[in-house]
Parts: sequence; structure tokens; C-alpha cells
Amino acid sequence: MLSVNMKTFFGIVAIFIATVTLTGGDHVLMSPFVGEEEGQKEVAFIIVPEKGLTADDYQMLGIILQDVCPLRLWIAILDPPKNVTLTLDNLPVLLYEVVDKLNDNGMGPRADLFLAAHGQAGHVVSVYTEAVPGTVRGLVLLGTSLHTGTSLASFPVGVMTVVGELDGLTRVTRIASTVQALEEAATSDPDLIVRHPIVLVDGSNHGIFVGDGLPSPLYEFDIDPEVDQFEVLQEAVDMISLFITNMAQAPEDAQIRAKEMFTMSFEHAKSVTEPIRSLRNLTQGAMKSYWVKMAQKWLSGLEGKESSLLEVDSFVTTSEILPLPPTLGVEDGINYVITFSDVTYPGRVDTAQSDNIVTAQTAPLEIAARMIGPERIHKILINTTIARNYTCRDLNYASFQTAYHTASKKAQTRFDQVNRYVRFLPDIVMDSEIEWEHTPLKVEVVGHELHVTGISYKTINDENLSPYAGLYFCKLLPPERAMEWIYVDYIRRNAIPP
Ligand SMILES: *[C@@H]1O[C@H](CO)[C@@H](O)[C@H](O)[C@H]1NC(C)=O
Ligand SMILES: *[C@@H]1O[C@H](CO)[C@@H](O)[C@H](O)[C@H]1NC(C)=O
Ligand SMILES: *[C@@H]1O[C@H](CO)[C@@H](O)[C@H](O)[C@H]1NC(C)=O
Ligand SMILES: *[C@@H]1O[C@H](CO)[C@@H](O)[C@H](O)[C@H]1NC(C)=O
Repeated sequence: MLSVNMKTFFGIVAIFIATVTLTGGDHVLMSPFVGEEEGQKEVAFIIVPEKGLTADDYQMLGIILQDVCPLRLWIAILDPPKNVTLTLDNLPVLLYEVVDKLNDNGMGPRADLFLAAHGQAGHVVSVYTEAVPGTVRGLVLLGTSLHTGTSLASFPVGVMTVVGELDGLTRVTRIASTVQALEEAATSDPDLIVRHPIVLVDGSNHGIFVGDGLPSPLYEFDIDPEVDQFEVLQEAVDMISLFITNMAQAPEDAQIRAKEMFTMSFEHAKSVTEPIRSLRNLTQGAMKSYWVKMAQKWLSGLEGKESSLLEVDSFVTTSEILPLPPTLGVEDGINYVITFSDVTYPGRVDTAQSDNIVTAQTAPLEIAARMIGPERIHKILINTTIARNYTCRDLNYASFQTAYHTASKKAQTRFDQVNRYVRFLPDIVMDSEIEWEHTPLKVEVVGHELHVTGISYKTINDENLSPYAGLYFCKLLPPERAMEWIYVDYIRRNAIPP
């Protein structure tokens, strides 16, 4: 066992840091400050590193936490073997070993256990925590979120989420979902905001917890920070310390401060993610697509007063139901179109296999919108004019513009600064409905540009074809997907080469 004495950055006290070689690599153990009194509440804080990082990379975080936390705090930073993926089989062994070592070093048997996981380690650590809630007092997710399918509101253990706003791996769009779910749950149980605090760190990225230490390719996927990472790390660690203190001991002053600070941080997370959340229900909400409804209205070519002559109802179907053609009718003097569309999401990653889950895209890939073309509509709406003939390309450009104008000023500026173009190309016209269904919206990187091409399928407006006359099908770009480009993909270090 190797022992190192280190000074904190604040030069206050020396901490005892030891490296211990166990099953994995060299785990780092930190003992409480010498001055901490006996009989004080004891806490063990165990950090599980991001894939490809070592225990040493998190020493800074550990040192700051030791410095600010008022409890008798023991820290262990795991060093999982390099060539081994962390699993539900080996994680408990590693945890058992380090806790055993901490006990050897003097930690009492009643210490509360807190687990912290960075990035891709978050998945296995949260699954583990959910399985053994009685043994873990709290979970701290660093630049990561709960595994999909788990609701924060019903998680058996208090969970703190600390994520950089510019985390290029754990997308702010993903955090937006967490915020949304917590907001909904908190309407009936406001304490959830304190039990499951969310801290979104402005201008910081995935590397906040380890300085510049991210290995390739994580580094390239990340977004350049806009703040002094060391400064914001200290603020983040203050919040972590408050979470631990409140969960472990809940002295009155910590309870009051936790309520105040975590309410504030939640309000902040809500406001940062507001533009993203407000676009969510455009694609799909309550079985309907507001975006397809708008697209169908535009496609009708009706403008001004005339556009109110047409009512549109746009349903989102599930893949089990055979796609229906859109219908056009008149009832009680009202002209209406009913459309049926599919929304395609990125392939579900096998949660048991992949630890890459938190980095995946969250927005739907495309909307297969089955709409009615202007000619058929104007056969019914006599005396109206087709003010403009739209294409899928126009509708997709509108989607991008909607996302851009909904984004925060800050996000717009970041996007503008990368100075890269999204180009919308003329539609690719398909010969059959089947072919159209099987051809995805085309999105490709060409040079320093992103090219988006809508896929269309049209039928001529011949009554003999009824109900397949005058149809106009488009593969549409969901506004949220464009939003993810603006907020994440396009401003990453490895975004389309300039
Ligand atoms: C990992 O690497 C170590 C040493 O390089 C080796 O002894 C061990 O068998 C490897 N384990 C796996 C699962 O490949
Ligand atoms: C979408 O949600 C926002 C609030 O998040 C709400 O104001 C808006 O009316 C909703 N839009 C639709 C089309 O449901
Ligand atoms: C269309 O316009 C003509 C001439 O202005 C008028 O006679 C007719 O009633 C109108 N039809 C409808 C359906 O409004
Ligand atoms: C729209 O297309 C129709 C038929 O293709 C054509 O008759 C009409 O002039 C076009 N309208 C405009 C405004 O381009």
C-alpha cells in the first residue's frame, strides 16, 4: 500500500491519500481530515470513473469534497481494470473490496454509503443502486443520467444529477427529459426536488469532473467549455456536499440550505431546458402531431383568411397499425383533413449490453407524414387559391427554422459561431408508397455542410384512385432533431470538419 500526503488546494489541512491495489487497478482511498471528531456521522463516498479514466483523474474532485464536506467523510475512487467492462457481476466485488479497505483504515461499520458515477459508468451503477437500495444512501450522477426506463420520481434512493450544460456526451436534450419528468412528479410531491436535485452547470462540459483529462474519443465528442472548469467544479462539489450532508444526517441548517439551493438549481435547469422541452410536444403529444398538422396546413397552399377554411387533425399511429391514407371530407360545413403519421425514434440500444446509452440521440429521427396535396383540397374548397406550392424541403427548412428560433439566444450564438451550414436539398421523389416508407429522411455530412433531403411520394389527383388520389407524403425532419444539432452535435469538438 502506497501512502501519499497531500496538501489541499486551499492549504488548510493535509489529507491522507492512499492507493490500494485490488482486483481492479490502483484504487484511491482518502481518509477524513485528522481534525474530524470521533462519533461524528461517517460517510463513504465511492466514485466510479468514466470509461477509460483512472482513479487518479478524480483526485481533485475528492480533495475538494473532503475540504467542504462537514461530515466524517471517507472517499474511495475505483480503478476498474482497463480491459474489463464494468458489470453487475464485477461492480459489487470492487465495491465490497474498497469498503473493506476503508473499514481497515478505520471507517466504522455504520458509515452511510454514497455512490457516484461519471458518464458511461452511470448506467451500471444506477442499475446496481436500484437493485440494492437498502445499502446505498444516495447516488450522485456526474455527467450522466438514470438508465432509460427508470423514473427519477420513483427511484428508491435519492439521486443527484450534476451535468455540464455543454456536456457533449450526456446531451442537454436528455437532461431536459429528466427535468420534465421531475417537474411533473413534483407537482404532487414538491420534496422530490430536494430528494433528487438536478444541477445543470452553465458553460461546462463532460470533462468538468476531471479537468482536461478526457481520453479520446470522449474528448472529441465533448463541447469546449466556456468557463473556468476548476471554479465551476468547486461550486458543483459544494452542491454534492450539501446533498450528502442532507441525505446522511439532515441537520436543520443543511435541510434549509438544501431546500433553498436545490429549488434554485431546479429552476435554473428548467429555464435552460425550456426551449428544448417546448419543442417536444410538437412532434408527438397525446397521440397527435402538431407539427404534421402545421405541415398539412402549409401544404394546402391556403393563406390568410382562407387557411381557416380547413381543419386538420393529425394522428400518430403505432407501427402495429397498418398505415392509413389521409382522408378529406366535409361535415357540418367544415372541411377537414385527417392524417396518420409514424414517428421513428433512434434504435433502442440494448440496455443490458451497452454502456453507451447515455450518449445516444434522444430526438426522433423522422416523421413519416401522410398528407393530402393542394390539388385535391382545392377541388373541395372551390374559389380558393393555391398561394404557394410547398415541397417536403420547404417543410423541413421550416422545421429547422422553428428549432433555431425556439433555441435560447446563447444556443443560437454558439451555433452561429461554428459557422457551418445546413443545406436543404430538393426532394427525392419515390415511385411507390412502400419505397417511400423504406427510405429514411436523408441526412448526410458533405464537406463542411450538413445536407438534409426530404423523401416524397405523390399520387395524381384522379378520382378513380380514391382514396389514394392527390396524396402527398413527406419524410419530415422533427424540429427536436434539428434542436439536438443546434444544442449538441453541431458544436461538438468533432462536429463536421470546417
Ligand atoms: C486483462 O488484462 C490483464 C493484463 O493485461 C490480463 O491478465 C487479463 O486476463 C485481461 N482480462 C481480460 C478479461 O481480458
Ligand atoms: C407544448 O408544451 C408547452 C409547455 O411545455 C405548452 O405551452 C404548449 O401549449 C404545448 N403545445 C402543444 C401543441 O401541445
Ligand atoms: C364561387 O364563386 C362564384 C363566383 O363568384 C360564386 O357564384 C359561387 O357561389 C362561389 N362558390 C362557393 C362554393 O363559394
Ligand atoms: C401550384 O401547382 C399547380 C399545379 O401543379 C399550378 O397549377 C399552380 O400554378 C401552382 N401555384 C403556384 C402559386 O405556384
